[in-house]
Amino acid sequence: NVIYRADYQEPAFWIDTVDLCFDLDPAKTRVLNRMKLRRNPDVMPQPLRLDGEELNLARVLVNGQGTSFKMENNQLVLENLPDGFEPFDLEIFTTCAPAKNTKLSGLYVSNDSFFTQCEAEGFRRITYFLDRPDVMASYTVLLRADKKAYPVLLSNGNLVEQGDMDDGRHFAKWVDPFRKPSYLFALVAGQLVAREQRIKSRAGNEHLLQVYVRPGDLDKTEHAMNSLMASVAWDEARFGLTLDLERFMIVATSDFNMGAMENKGLNIFNTKYVLASQATATDTDFGNIESVVGHEYFHNWTGNRITCRDWFQLSLKEGLTVFRDQEFSMDLAGEASARAVKRIEDVRVLRTAQFPEDAGPMAHPVRPDQYMEINNFYTVTVYEKGAEVVRMMQTLVGRDGFASGMKLYFERHDGHAVTCDDFAQAIADANPESKLAQLLPQFKRWYSQAGTPRVKAVGHYDAASGIYNLTLTQSCPPTAGQEVKEPFVIPIGLGLLGADGAELSHGMHVLTEATETLTFPGLQAAPVPSILRGFSAPVILEYDYTDAELLTLLAHDTDPFNRWEAGQRLAVNRALGYIGQDGLAAGDIRLDAPYIEAMRTVLRDPKLDAAFKELALTLPAETYLGEQLDVVDPQRIHAVREAMREQLAGALYDDWQWAFETHKENGAYTPDSVSSGRRALTGLALTNLCLAARASGDAVWPGKALQRFKDASNMTDRFNALAALVTSGHELAGQALQRFHAMFKDEALVLDKWFALQAGAPDRGGNVLPAVKQLMKHPDFSLRNPNRARSVIFSYCSANPGGFHRHDAAGYVFWSERVIELDSINPQVAARLARALDRWKKLAEPMRGAAREAIARVAAKPDLSNDVREVVTRALAD
Ligand code: ARG
Ligand code: ZN
Repeated sequence: NVIYRADYQEPAFWIDTVDLCFDLDPAKTRVLNRMKLRRNPDVMPQPLRLDGEELNLARVLVNGQGTSFKMENNQLVLENLPDGFEPFDLEIFTTCAPAKNTKLSGLYVSNDSFFTQCEAEGFRRITYFLDRPDVMASYTVLLRADKKAYPVLLSNGNLVEQGDMDDGRHFAKWVDPFRKPSYLFALVAGQLVAREQRIKSRAGNEHLLQVYVRPGDLDKTEHAMNSLMASVAWDEARFGLTLDLERFMIVATSDFNMGAMENKGLNIFNTKYVLASQATATDTDFGNIESVVGHEYFHNWTGNRITCRDWFQLSLKEGLTVFRDQEFSMDLAGEASARAVKRIEDVRVLRTAQFPEDAGPMAHPVRPDQYMEINNFYTVTVYEKGAEVVRMMQTLVGRDGFASGMKLYFERHDGHAVTCDDFAQAIADANPESKLAQLLPQFKRWYSQAGTPRVKAVGHYDAASGIYNLTLTQSCPPTAGQEVKEPFVIPIGLGLLGADGAELSHGMHVLTEATETLTFPGLQAAPVPSILRGFSAPVILEYDYTDAELLTLLAHDTDPFNRWEAGQRLAVNRALGYIGQDGLAAGDIRLDAPYIEAMRTVLRDPKLDAAFKELALTLPAETYLGEQLDVVDPQRIHAVREAMREQLAGALYDDWQWAFETHKENGAYTPDSVSSGRRALTGLALTNLCLAARASGDAVWPGKALQRFKDASNMTDRFNALAALVTSGHELAGQALQRFHAMFKDEALVLDKWFALQAGAPDRGGNVLPAVKQLMKHPDFSLRNPNRARSVIFSYCSANPGGFHRHDAAGYVFWSERVIELDSINPQVAARLARALDRWKKLAEPMRGAAREAIARVAAKPDLSNDVREVVTRALAD
């Protein structure tokens, strides 16, 4: 049951129109599906095979007549269809049970409302269909339901008719003016209310924007609406792409497998990415809402107007749309320094999540070659690395060149289902003189070769001639099925600094060979190289920087990304040194004065933004440190990082106090980048002050944290104060947690934070696992709600390495039980959790053996979903 990209064939039939009629009922929904089909003349005549899953089939009619059919593993097979290429009618009547649909794929019920999720292959759980993205049809949808229970009836496109029926039910008829693949179908029915906004596009067209939520949540929709309006304006201004619909709807649901879904004209969102008020959402939530609203909106062109030929091309829409949402957030952030902060955050995600994926058992190219379950490939590789590939294209053709490339892409492919090759070709063809055009076949290795490339840089300065040589060597480790890698096209942003920090030169080098040497004449002394500026390519840069060089870069580099990077390297070098020092107890770790002074200088620098300082003063993540090692003891990494953190807390005590006092007042709450940066730094300062107090036993700062927690006027400050108490393990944490729960017991998204904070707390003597088990017994816990399951189980298994990787294997036993338990409820969520042990082969004993055993226990279950089966099979393969 493996599917290969190389096996792609056009569909044997096209579906031109779909007329759907739903009688919505939670226990038994009736679906009448009337389609017009015709044979695809380019494909050999063959039976029609329609996908269907968990459906009850009641009737099949061809041109109004009964017909013979058979079922073959989840396909309805029709062999006796009319010959020739004339269109024919196919009518299929089925029922399904939305209330029992715990997989949240297809049509399901959440809080007494109906929702759909059809990407990637959920439409087949609603009706029999050619459920593949290259079959694009025109949809008409008639919804019928009880009027009292389901007053709002929504589907894609325009509402053309609505009215009451005799039996207390009502109906609504929707017509989508655009052809679309089945994965973009959506319907919503329930008791919902909408914030509405009428806007006028630059072209002068009127549009109605709506954000639908449950009645009590209307006051939390302003930010989502503002983000939507900003998205519409941005896509017009930056790419000339206008809203093509009279009505654009967003609907929020609290039961959702992923973040959100770009259904044509009817985006369905996880509440987490819609609802926000200053009292309930943090600055991070506000930022995420802006970027996810943008992301789904931008899909309207990159994904919906031009869609994917097959699911191997997923990055065609996802990589491009992530790139677009990243650019959107950067453009909204404003100044160069705020853009850099966003860039650093994005790179941090790439390095802590995508690099490990690319080095583990689920490694796959941006355009995968095979899969068992496509839902397993909605990955950081397809999304975030895919976005980096698009970003490199923009780097190679320039910002204007990229915009022309997009224009050509739409001229060529609007309304069609295409491939990653088609996209790259359009960008290159619009820029025939560019490096991208010259190097296109080689550049496209970014789509086909998995693994994170490494670039090793070695500098040599010759005093006699004044020449500096920089030799760059690229390599890429083998990944499953790809033993040997060919060289990539790697744009490398470069700068040379003098020892005093002055910039001597800068530019962009495009590395194409395995090894190249760059020559810089006329230098008075050995320069300090600033390499891979702005993180110009998704590679690992290896350069043996001395502390002195890193301190120069940290203090003077004009590239803010590499400034931050220099600080991270200083910390990584120290952490790896301590970790590798046999017999060194965490308590004996002493950070050196130059490092501490450098951090102090950054913290006190009047020219740096608070947001940047917060990033620079945060130590590299435990998982990132783990990736730098061949053999990993996550508890050791945790202990070392915690020790370093406590030292920085104590050594910079006065500076943290200063930072706290000078940034804590923000006036009226706004989630803009400047004031959220100030809150972030205040929060970090408070955590450090509480950590320092922990070491010294002083109670002043924990007391202040508790007070701030009580007095806070917004969730960011309140949550940061709570986190400072929990993170420092102070005894006041208990009462603060209790109070927090009482305050927000009716706010599901805030309770998620409450659960996540405890499940992700720094482990002290193995205390987190018992706490997690307790949390699962809490009346507010539910395994069925993905957000809640993630807030407890994922926060522990995936985001708390120090607590999870126990030497007694109890974390892994817990993990295997939860994977199995979740798999029978929701395979997509279970398969995500299954990936928490992706990197088990790196673990030190006894964890390695125990992890293997736990994975084998899951794999031994006979009736696993395809989703989990694929993950554990790959994990155990060698
Ligand atoms: N296309 C959606 C997005 O990126 C993600 C939906 C994925 N859903 C899934 N079940 N695999 O915005
Ligand atoms: Zn997307």
